[in-house]
Amino acid sequence: MVVASPSLQTAVINKAAISIPKITVIGAGNVGASLARCLLSQNLGHVVLLDIIEGRPQGLALDMAEAQPLEGYSYNITGTNNYQDTAGSQVIVITAGLPRKPGMSRDDLLKVNGSIILDVMAKALPHSPNAYFILVTNPLDVMTYLAWRSSGLPHSRVLGQAGVLDSARFRTFIAQALKVPPQDVATMVLGGHGDLMVPLISYTTVNGIPLTELLPAAEIEQLVERTRQGGAEIVNYLKTGGAFYAPAAATASMVAAILQNQSSILPVSAYLDGQYGLKDIYLGVPCRLNSKGVASVVELSITANEQQGLQTSADSVRKTLDKALPMFSV
Ligand code: NAI
Ligand code: 2OP
Repeated sequence: MVVASPSLQTAVINKAAISIPKITVIGAGNVGASLARCLLSQNLGHVVLLDIIEGRPQGLALDMAEAQPLEGYSYNITGTNNYQDTAGSQVIVITAGLPRKPGMSRDDLLKVNGSIILDVMAKALPHSPNAYFILVTNPLDVMTYLAWRSSGLPHSRVLGQAGVLDSARFRTFIAQALKVPPQDVATMVLGGHGDLMVPLISYTTVNGIPLTELLPAAEIEQLVERTRQGGAEIVNYLKTGGAFYAPAAATASMVAAILQNQSSILPVSAYLDGQYGLKDIYLGVPCRLNSKGVASVVELSITANEQQGLQTSADSVRKTLDKALPMFSV
């Protein structure tokens, strides 16, 4: 175990009277390490970075701790292979898992990552019985369902990250097309984290102006398609892995919404029990996130096309889920 520098320890002691959140990131790969750094730089709490590879989380934690004198984050980071160090976490983010490799089918990935998620949940939950769990591992909506189902936790405490990232990608592409700051663009991408995701054009605006007033339909459709392929576009460039900076930033915003009781409405993979006409599935929908986790699913009135898109996306997630459930006894 590596704990951050003495100056950080002093900061901890001085702040002992305040309750400082503890956030665990499981999986110290590209997404996990980038997320740990985001959480530190946003001063969201103490961070514990855990991986099965001995030395990796320790080395990364030490490296990030050594940036503290230069960057001035307030809280410390621990790198570990031991779940005891995660005890008492308020939020646990799971990024552990494999990306798809050559020769591997989607079902192979499902089996490998499903086993990892069940293993991680079984080890992490006993040490942090009150934690909120945010899943990042793919296939996202199915992994989130498995985490929830295996844990027996209320669904308000288990959620998945995808829509915040997919919406950020769509905002970026719109901003580039219109030459406006990306912050001016508001949108929501719903549905499963895959090719069938559903960017809500009816809720996409640029400083309040409907996107349909600013771009022709054919151009909007190209941006939608680019968003759907956003993960693949980056894999094609990088060749040896997927995106991690934007996924980490997206996940950090969800951690912040929960820990800071923001009540932000964000698109997250949440359990549906009849909302949007869908039942017993995790899928990307707008949710109010606060200190209760997923406090509520926000039901928007959407167009018939968008509802059809959501149903098609849900059908695809359900197909994978139906393959996954018999693989594991949950
Ligand atoms: P990576 O390969 O860089 O890192 C994965 C890490 O998980 C490795 O360090 C590995 O040692 C660790 N790991 C494996 N089994 C473990 C276990 N049982 N316990 C603890 N750690 C374990 O992969 P990367 O790029 O960080 O991606 C991680 C996952 O996140 C992948 O499944 C990827 O597809 C997914 N992803 C999801 C996104 C989303 O928007 N939901 C966006 C980007 C990635
Ligand atoms: C992404 O969207 C692969 O889920 C990952 O970048």
